[in-house]
Amino acid sequence: MSLDIVLKNAKIFTSSGPIEGDIGIKDGKIVKIGDIQEQYIKTIDLSGKYVIPGLIDGHTHMEFPFMSEITADDFYYGTKASIAGGVTTIVDFVTPSHGQDLISAYEKWRGNADPKVVSDYGLHMIIREINSNVLEQIPSVINKGVVSFKLFMAYKNELMLPDGDLYKLIKKISDFGGVTGIHAENGEIINELIQEFLKEGKVEPIYHYYSRPDILEIEATNRIASIASLVGKDVKMYIVHTSTGEAVDIISNYRKMGYKFFNETTPHYLTLNTEMLKRPDAFRYVMSPPLRSDEQRTKLWYRLASGDIFTIGSDHCVYSDLQKKRHMEKVPPFNEIPNGVPGTETILPLLYYFGVKKGIISMERFIEVTSLNPAKLFGLYPQKGTIMPGSDADFAIIDPEKKVRISPDVLHSNIDYTIYDGVEVEGWNVMTMRRGEIVYEEGQVIGKKGSGKYIPGKTPIMM
Ligand code: URP
Ligand code: ZN
Ligand code: ZN
Ligand code: ZN
Repeated sequence: MSLDIVLKNAKIFTSSGPIEGDIGIKDGKIVKIGDIQEQYIKTIDLSGKYVIPGLIDGHTHMEFPFMSEITADDFYYGTKASIAGGVTTIVDFVTPSHGQDLISAYEKWRGNADPKVVSDYGLHMIIREINSNVLEQIPSVINKGVVSFKLFMAYKNELMLPDGDLYKLIKKISDFGGVTGIHAENGEIINELIQEFLKEGKVEPIYHYYSRPDILEIEATNRIASIASLVGKDVKMYIVHTSTGEAVDIISNYRKMGYKFFNETTPHYLTLNTEMLKRPDAFRYVMSPPLRSDEQRTKLWYRLASGDIFTIGSDHCVYSDLQKKRHMEKVPPFNEIPNGVPGTETILPLLYYFGVKKGIISMERFIEVTSLNPAKLFGLYPQKGTIMPGSDADFAIIDPEKKVRISPDVLHSNIDYTIYDGVEVEGWNVMTMRRGEIVYEEGQVIGKKGSGKYIPGKTPIMM
């Protein structure tokens, strides 16, 4: 057999440890790891570099219609940013409009994504209401490869569902083997707190934090875990973008009792704190749940290191300054600022530098939460999420010594700021390979618009 490409002299890392040898690639797949004697068309010398599985960002919102805006990163800009950050697969949230049926929303998302994606992608389905045929459509959605869903306990009057609907949906999704993702914040009480602050003229971005205190995430996590446990031990559930250690502990305790419940967190909860909401550009840092205290940040790092946090997703949800300010001169009241921040391109450097290089998490943990676990959770494993023969040749190639000062100039989103401006890291993605093709090198995304593929999810695996 003659190979297409051989990657030579790199240090290869997987979730179960480093591997010695070269990687042989044919037709976009890994065919051999080790001592390679076969002929090949091309060889790439990766001395001094680390090869890891391409990251899977299981939480993005490209072209997302939310709070009267559509996110600034469409599937082209958004996946260019992903690819530059070593993310070879995203899982994006199909967001039906009011009254829209789930299948036509799925088709709209495919229509938006297919001509533009540079990375591969999978899809989750947001369910915002139980209208006439939503429950009946869940099996058809799963048949299309959309095996994970997201339900909201917050954003009253926009996406929030009452407990009865959450119960019905978890039951139905579980009956057909799907995974339910939950945005766990108590939207009713948040709404009360917002009204109280507005009445008192407290409109600055910091009140976004005061209106969404830790306890409202903890309460909602506890409530949804209780509701889901009532449905049964077969329920597969994960809490998205968890921002408190206590919410992680609730879910871990259920897991100890045999439930298949998990947590995701994001790099911003690990690296930034509430102080950001006091800066002149605080409006850029408005996302939900809000940035928390350093104490919570530390709790999250501990739980990431211990294995209690299952996945890292970016919650990439990008708005331009103009959009964040709702096209006004002045910053609008905190509750009118579209919620969301960029993140898909900076998962790798932030987690590698502040986690692995600082000695808080191992390289194996890093790989587990950024590729192996999301691949399993969203039914993409073993095609994605691992380096072994038969899997797609998706790699991030890290220069562990490369020092970078993060700024909008080194990033690829369709906005002219970053929430990590000036942050200095050591360790950077220098090459991305997606199904055996170099799609990013020397700071340039060279993968073609529309060259990414939809990867239908199969049965989620939760250990
Ligand atoms: O602020 C956020 N997280 N925006 C995106 C929507 C969501 O809740 O994930
Ligand atoms: Zn959310
Ligand atoms: Zn999100
Ligand atoms: Zn607008």
